[in-house]
Amino acid sequence: MNLPNIKDARIRTNNKINYMEAKNIKSDEFKGKKYFIRTYGCQMNVHDSEEIKGILENLGFNETDNLEQADIVVLNTCAIRENAHDKVFGFLGRLKHLKKENPNLIICIGGCMPQEESVANLLKEKYPFVNIVFGTHNISELGSLILEQKEKQQIEVYSIEGNVYEHMDYVRDSKITAWVNIMYGCDKFCTYCIVPFTRGRQRSRKMANILEEVKELKEKGYMEITLLGQNVNAYGKDLEEEVDFATLLENVAKLNIPRIRFVTSHPWDFTDEMINVIAKYDNIMPYIHLPLQSGSSKILKLMGRRYTKEEYINLYNKIKEHIKGVSITTDIIVGFPNETEEDFEETLDVVKKCQFDGAFTFIYSPREGTPASKIKDSISLKEKEERLYRLNEIINDYSLKHNKEYIGKTEEVLIIGTSEKGENKVCGYTKTMKLVNVSNAQSDIGKIIDVKITSAKSFSLDGEKVVFIKN
Ligand code: 5AD
Ligand code: SF4
Repeated sequence: MNLPNIKDARIRTNNKINYMEAKNIKSDEFKGKKYFIRTYGCQMNVHDSEEIKGILENLGFNETDNLEQADIVVLNTCAIRENAHDKVFGFLGRLKHLKKENPNLIICIGGCMPQEESVANLLKEKYPFVNIVFGTHNISELGSLILEQKEKQQIEVYSIEGNVYEHMDYVRDSKITAWVNIMYGCDKFCTYCIVPFTRGRQRSRKMANILEEVKELKEKGYMEITLLGQNVNAYGKDLEEEVDFATLLENVAKLNIPRIRFVTSHPWDFTDEMINVIAKYDNIMPYIHLPLQSGSSKILKLMGRRYTKEEYINLYNKIKEHIKGVSITTDIIVGFPNETEEDFEETLDVVKKCQFDGAFTFIYSPREGTPASKIKDSISLKEKEERLYRLNEIINDYSLKHNKEYIGKTEEVLIIGTSEKGENKVCGYTKTMKLVNVSNAQSDIGKIIDVKITSAKSFSLDGEKVVFIKN
């Protein structure tokens, strides 16, 4: 994508930009002031926000969840579908009013949206009250941008990826579960997807650095880590050292952190070695998110997904056969341009054959600059909505069916916090990532406990802590 509004480089080293000088800046300039952050989108953004929080706290800010009390507001945005944009622009309307009441309010927009040329231009022309606009490649610069804040709007977005940074001062949302980036960006260029443009080409972290971070997390008492990347099983393909995801996963497992999981996997890169490692280690959770996107081989080809319906089903069956009790979830897009009823029925057919534990389902959203957005589409939105509805009905039926299989069983549950269900309940996850609301376990937050499952809904289970009575 050509981004004329977006700068090309600062200091280039090996064709990458070096923003290093801006890392972990510390100052008490904003001591006593408050920040409000809102995060849109995927886990990658959630983790980026932990980095942003670290940057803000290094400048002296403290977090508030009360927008009216904030001295600085940061929106960490997502560009994956149009509705993600709409939410941000809706919120910006509210911020405009707030700024009238408090002209000193600093408004920052970062993340994936500003990486799009049209958005960067729009912010410049129509939203001059936004003080700082930054991209995914220069998050680490946010501290210096705030300190050097100018009278007029600052847009600092780069089209070229930055280096892979180590030792950032994250402020993590949880003391129990932690995200660990293993790679940034994506090289797959699925034809509908904006990620390779907003997050750049794949850059893996060195294995030694990842292992060091996991070791530190274990020492701090973290119970679960999630290895993060747009396509984790392509890990290492861009590195000089000969390392792949299976090797990394095995080395992480040997560090004995109680629970390890990873997101997201691309079926094309899923190797037998990975399956063997997951099956071999008890602390690797038997849970895999394996995006299908479509069940029609014709549409998969148009999507550039590199596998057919049959190849997906074969992989799915192989995983189920080798990893005991594994749960598999997926992502599905309905209404890719010119998807026919027959194509859609192929998707339903895969869903019926695989019987996923759960799925995130989306209506295709054309993204500017992607190859699929240039295809003229003859299918109406109404038809797409109907397909989504039909798909969700089936998906939810299977989720409920799988969840009901847990009733009466005793499961190990990592308790992560109080439950939204109230009634003094806590909640946590099974090894297979089923959400469980648990009664009589208020003092067990942060622990893995045995829970007897008593009832099941489509999206959660209920259970009671198993109390062993000593004779
Ligand atoms: N339209 C709809 N859904 C999309 N996704 C990615 N790009 C688009 C798009 N243009 C979905 C895919 C991906 C998930 C994170 O978002 O299913 O796996
Ligand atoms: Fe997007 Fe495809 Fe990369 Fe996933 S694998 S981030 S869908 S380009």
